Amino acid sequence: MTIQWFPGHMAKAKREVQEKLKLIDIVFELVDARIPMSSRNPMIDEILVNKPRIVLLNKADMADEEITKQWIAFFQNQHIKALAIDSQAGTGVKQIVAAAKEMLKPKFEKMAAKGIKNPRAMRALIVGIPNVGKSTLINRLAGKHIAKTGDKPGVTKAQQWIKVGKEMELLDTPGILWPKFEDEEVGLKLATTGAIKDTILNLQDVAVYALNFLKQHYPERLKERYSLVEIPEDIVALFDEIGKRRGCLMSGGLVDYDKVAELVLREIRTEKLGRLSFEKPNE
Ligand code: G4P
Repeated sequence: MTIQWFPGHMAKAKREVQEKLKLIDIVFELVDARIPMSSRNPMIDEILVNKPRIVLLNKADMADEEITKQWIAFFQNQHIKALAIDSQAGTGVKQIVAAAKEMLKPKFEKMAAKGIKNPRAMRALIVGIPNVGKSTLINRLAGKHIAKTGDKPGVTKAQQWIKVGKEMELLDTPGILWPKFEDEEVGLKLATTGAIKDTILNLQDVAVYALNFLKQHYPERLKERYSLVEIPEDIVALFDEIGKRRGCLMSGGLVDYDKVAELVLREIRTEKLGRLSFEKPNE
């Protein structure tokens, strides 16, 4: 579902997350491992203030492994714990509870020192922009299917705690935050990875961005996928080459650029070009 974010919605979403923060010990900030910066909320530090946080690089199964490692180091340099996970398959998900426990150890030790014999479970909240995998992760941690709340800030239902083993409880409704729209490149990256719907941006613009990116960063994959001996300099010529090879033609034999755009984006999103990362740290 695509959300129309208006200033009122953003303010409300921020307020809702801040309300939930009062109930919890730790935040799991979910981002897309292929675009860890572009899939973040631009005000996240201000919203979370000093809440303990773990950044979860989700969909790591689709990202370039080497670059994901660089991202983990990048966050680590900023004293932010980051983990690579695949919520769909469950890879890496077990580390989350262990990492949270480690991070909250001092707090719970303090509670123990005050004589609290049976400390309560750690309480956690997942936050992130739409489509980053929040519901998938909640279901994975819960070990069962929890209905997805309408992807609209303000669509509330009674909140419940989901037990994650004995040591953690998770709020069943995630905090939904907005991405950074002001930057055109952010929008193009979100669209390339499928985080925002194809109707919002011009499909051909997104495909031009994606193909130029592949040309620069993954030329061999591009050549191999579309059987290109050389990658044409000119982007229209590249559309033509792909269109002709893959039969994206209009009547009369002219290349149908919309079809090429659709094909290329579908193939990127379904990993036909392999695991791709669209952002590197410190770029
Ligand atoms: P949200 O609550 O943050 O809005 O995201 P949601 O869980 O609905 O996930 C958005 C899409 O991302 C879903 O695919 C979901 O299956 C997929 N996804 C979530 N986590 C991962 C992951 O770690 N790896 C991969 N490869 N995909 C992930 P969808 O196509 O929208 O729906 P469906 O295919 O599940 O029906």
